[in-house]
This record gives sequence, C-alpha cells and structure tokens, in this order.
Amino acid sequence: MTLDRNATHDASSSASHHMWGGRFGTRPDEALAALNDSLPIDRRLWMQDIRGSKAWVTALHEASVLDPDERTALHEGLDRVGERLAAGGEIDATDEDIHTLVERLLYEEVGDVAGKLHTGRSRNDQVVTDLRLWCLDAIEALDEQVAALGMALVRQGRDGVDMLLPGYTHGQQAQPVRWAYVMAAHAWPLLRDRERLGEIVGRVAVLPLGSGALAGSGVAVDRERLCELLGFRAISQNALDATGDRDFVAEMLFAATLLATHVSRLGGELVTYSSTEYGFVRLSDAFSTGSSLLPQKRNPDVFELARAKASRTLGDLVAMLGTMRGLPAGYSKDLQEDKTLLFDAVDTMLVTLPAVRGAVATMEPVPDRMRSALRDTLLATDVADELVNVGIPFREAHGLTGRLVREAEALGVPLREVPSEHTKQIHEGLPDILEGLGSFEDSVERRRTVGGTSKASVEAQLDALEQFFSN
Ligand code: ARG
Repeated sequence: MTLDRNATHDASSSASHHMWGGRFGTRPDEALAALNDSLPIDRRLWMQDIRGSKAWVTALHEASVLDPDERTALHEGLDRVGERLAAGGEIDATDEDIHTLVERLLYEEVGDVAGKLHTGRSRNDQVVTDLRLWCLDAIEALDEQVAALGMALVRQGRDGVDMLLPGYTHGQQAQPVRWAYVMAAHAWPLLRDRERLGEIVGRVAVLPLGSGALAGSGVAVDRERLCELLGFRAISQNALDATGDRDFVAEMLFAATLLATHVSRLGGELVTYSSTEYGFVRLSDAFSTGSSLLPQKRNPDVFELARAKASRTLGDLVAMLGTMRGLPAGYSKDLQEDKTLLFDAVDTMLVTLPAVRGAVATMEPVPDRMRSALRDTLLATDVADELVNVGIPFREAHGLTGRLVREAEALGVPLREVPSEHTKQIHEGLPDILEGLGSFEDSVERRRTVGGTSKASVEAQLDALEQFFSN
C-alpha cells in the first residue's frame, strides 16, 4: 500500500517501554497501535509535558515522596529530555504518546528513579494539564495576530478617512460611507475577538493536575502549590469532572471559529472590492497570485482562502462538540481527538492571520473608482430627511422620495436632474431640497451620532480601535 502515513509502526523501540503492559500477555496489535497511538499529534506538547512533570516532581518532593537527591535527579533528567526533544531528537519514536516518550527518555537519562515520576499521577490529569498550558500560549499567539490585523485595518482607515464609496446592504448601494468606516466595521469584530480570548483565559487556566485518573491523587500533594508553580489561576474542584472536562477546548474552538468567520467576511468583501468591476482596492504584488493560464490575472487568493478557512475551523468545532456529547463524566479515549481538532484550528488561524494582515497592510485603495461608483440615489435618504425637516411625517416623506426615485429612473437621469416641473408635482418643497442637497461629503457629515459616518465619529472610532489594538 502506498498511503504511507507513518506506516512503520516498529514495535521494538516502544516495546521496551510501555506504561501499562503488566496485565497483558502480548503487546497491542499493530492495527490497534496505529489507531490508538497519538504521538504524531501530541508530540508538540513535549514542552508542556516537561514543565508539568517538573512541577509534579517538586510537589512529590514537598509531599515527602521523593528525597532531595531524587528530586534533583528527576529535574535534571527532565531538562535533558527537553534538550533532546528541542533538538528534534526521537523524531522516529513509536511510543504511544508524548507522555510515554518523555518517561522512556527519562529512564534513559536517570535510570530507575524515573519510575517514581508517575507516582500519584495519571495520564488523564497529565494530558489535560499539558493541553491547558498549551492553550494559554495559543491564546497569546492568536491575540497578537488579531491585534496586528486590527492595527492594519486601522492604518488603512487612517489613510481612507476622506475616501467616499457606496455603503451596501443586500449588495445594493444604500448610503455613502467613508473607506475608513468600512475598515473600522471589520476591525470592531476583531476587538470583540480579543476580548473573548481574554475572557476564556480564566476558564482555561484551571489546574487539573493532582486529579489522578478520576478520583483524586493518592499522594497528598499541595495542589495550590502546583497551581502557583505552573501559573494557573485556580484549581479544579472535582477530579472526575476535571479529567473529562474539555469545555475549554470547545471554547477555544468557538473563539477561533468566530474569529475565522470575521476574517472570512473581511476576505469576502475584499474579493469583491478587488474585482475588475469594483476596483476599489488593488492588492500589492507580494500578496497577489497569478493564473497559470490567464496572464492578466491578479488573484486575491489570500482573501479567498481566508474566506474558506472559517469552514474548516467550524468543522473542528462541530467535531469537538460532537465528540463530547453523550460522554459520561471522566476520561474516555474519545477525548484524545481533542488535540487534532484544536491544533488544526489554531494552526489554521496562525497561518491565515499574518497573510491577511500583510495583504490588508499593503493593499491600495483606489478612491477614484470608489467615487465614480457613487450614484445620486445614495442621497435618497437625505431627501426624505429634508422633507421631514419641513414638517412631513417620515413615512410620507419616504413615499414621496420613492416617487422621485421612480421618476428619475423613468427619465434615466440622476436624482438631482429630475426637472422641477416633475418634482413639484410630487411635493412643492422638492425643487429647493434637491437644490440644497449638497455633496456626498455633506451626506456623510450629516450622520454625526456616535457610530455614524461623520468624520468626527469615524476618527473617534479609529482612535478607540488604535488604542485597543496597540496593547
Ligand atoms: N494520549 C492520551 C490522550 O491524548 C493520553 C491520556 C491517556 N489516558 C488513558 N487513560 N489512556 O488523551
């Protein structure tokens, strides 16, 4: 067979070190090992595994399970194992998982005293401790990238405060807006993403270590001390819950997916705006891609892929919730799947965000194209508002303006060029209103409420966003 996916399960190297072989007459079948082993996925937890194990050694020592020499030997041994793994050692290892691998290497480094490391501990509390530590780093990495993308949008906005373009709803021209306003509209969701990432930290940073397999540890370790050693904020309160709880993974996946969804919407909009027909933005060479057949193409692959990645992370989220549903409390092997899904979603975003940020930072808005897309009908709401100002109830003003738009369409002229003989028929005040309608700038400036399109409002938004994304 040619589907060579880690096909070589060499029983020999891990045969010598198995965590649970005692009660079985033979080693697991190769087919079982191929399904069950998770080292190719969880190998990347090695750093967290060593950190957690070192803290566990300290706690065992403080609980008088290890004497000072044993503690030192194990600490130094774990450091050496870490060095070997950092240097890319054991790349072909066929151990069951990262926990087994680290323990086997520890035996190589320190001999039999390695056998004391796992006292009072289970892989059930160990793996979820490692994963929570990993998540805390992942949150930081994501947060940094989200802030950088947010800042790129703010910078585009700063340059685009005076560029006007049609604002769209339902894909139809609705009212004029500023380019900065559109950029800010995509930055606000990222602000919420950062807030969300910050909020889940409190639920991720809960220490499960010391839970044993499900019933608590038989060794009287000081869990508060472990919490402090590993930088967690609280300790779990029920070992059966703590070993089977993957809510934090689901929350990470939701946060990643909503983030991906926001980036997808930004991408989708920029695919449209970079098209030949719109031409509102031009991608830089470094962030455009070409076609193998069509020499003229300048493709926005970066935004198309950003658009697609949200489906992938959504798949990860749905698969995780699907895995969790129906499981009894405590650890079930189903939960081993958590890492594949979590790593995929986080990796996906850590590849996507820098590329989108680069593309946003280097794209060039084309204000002439934006302006030439502005149609007079974008001022229809302003006409209705002016009719309101001369005392007409809005509902009626809306109807009168609708008739004006219909008239303009029938005559094939812009709103303001409908002859006054016609507009007078609709309402006697209309000729003056159309006369004094002013520019598209006047229209955006008329929207001065917080969150509106006026320059002052947009600049206040950019200030707030910049402040938020710069720390
Ligand atoms: N590789 C396992 C996982 O990722 C570690 C925990 C195994 N626990 C067990 N009882 N077999 O979930």
